[in-house]
Amino acid sequence: MAVIHSTYRDTGTVSVDGERCTLCEACVKTCPVGVLRIEDGAVRQRNVGFGCVACGHCMMVCPETCIAVSGRNLSAADLQPLPPPEARADAASLKALLAARRSVRRFRERPVEPELLAEVVAVASSAPMGVPPWDVGVVTVDGADAVRKLAGEVVAGYRGMVKIFRPGILKVMRPFIGRARYEQFSSFIVPLAHKYLESWDEGRDTVFYGAPAALIFHYSPYAGEADAVIACTYAMLAAESHGLGSCMVGGAPPILQRNRDLCAGLGIPEGNTPALVLILGYSAVPFKRGIVRRFSHQQEAGPR
Ligand SMILES: Cc1cc2nc3c(=O)[nH]c(=O)nc-3n(C[C@H](O)[C@H](O)[C@H](O)COP(=O)(O)O)c2cc1C
Repeated sequence: MAVIHSTYRDTGTVSVDGERCTLCEACVKTCPVGVLRIEDGAVRQRNVGFGCVACGHCMMVCPETCIAVSGRNLSAADLQPLPPPEARADAASLKALLAARRSVRRFRERPVEPELLAEVVAVASSAPMGVPPWDVGVVTVDGADAVRKLAGEVVAGYRGMVKIFRPGILKVMRPFIGRARYEQFSSFIVPLAHKYLESWDEGRDTVFYGAPAALIFHYSPYAGEADAVIACTYAMLAAESHGLGSCMVGGAPPILQRNRDLCAGLGIPEGNTPALVLILGYSAVPFKRGIVRRFSHQQEAGPR
């Protein structure tokens, strides 16, 4: 079983080719942790704060390509050309992509091409993820049978849960878990569990909706849940850009988190926490129109 190895204690190393460096200071200005400065006519790395985090920004901004960063899972070989401006999504195309996306819960019986899944994962890996090195991982569950098997495990987990959290027991627990948690369990989690069980027993999967593929985003104790959730969001948009429907499923991780054997079987490293699942597939019920959504403080109606 894979065990977490954090490279957090390592410090990145910045090497500057002094022959080609023009002391333009772009690297010094961009460094988010302030470890670079010009001293005695050269760029020098100082070990201040938590040291170089190997984000690679200095080598990405260097006009002379004379900086190499290594350590913390990064090297100069990771540099790649930027897409030319004409190949980048402009505001209108990004807005259109976002406006056209909606959660999809009905899928055609068509598998998702493995190379397409790999591309979605590759795009998602470009998401911002807290402090490098990126301690977010993703497991691909490929094929409707594999996804359904996993849904069965989730349903089994909920079946066990509802046996424990019976109404009487929940009431007894209320003083210990607090009002908000009590209400969350009694009004949402337990009814949701019952919904999962009822539909599963009737032959319907309302956990993963019979999707032909799923991505499980997980994070190590050195990362935060937000890192994995942002990566999942990127994957959702990448899927949309390839004509794939998707839906985030937060109902599965609480069960996956409690089943270490299942996580190990999925290849989730010991100690990592599953944060969010993204189900993917070709939509069986295309949307014909969009909808205006607003944040909670935006009450006015109608389009902007
Ligand atoms: C963190 C998170 C968890 C979610 N979990 C579930 C889930 O377990 N099951 C589900 O059907 N939808 C889930 N959704 C999808 C939302 O229900 C969906 O975004 C909502 O229906 C609005 O639809 P839209 O995405 O088309 O705007 C989740 C969404 C988020 C952001």
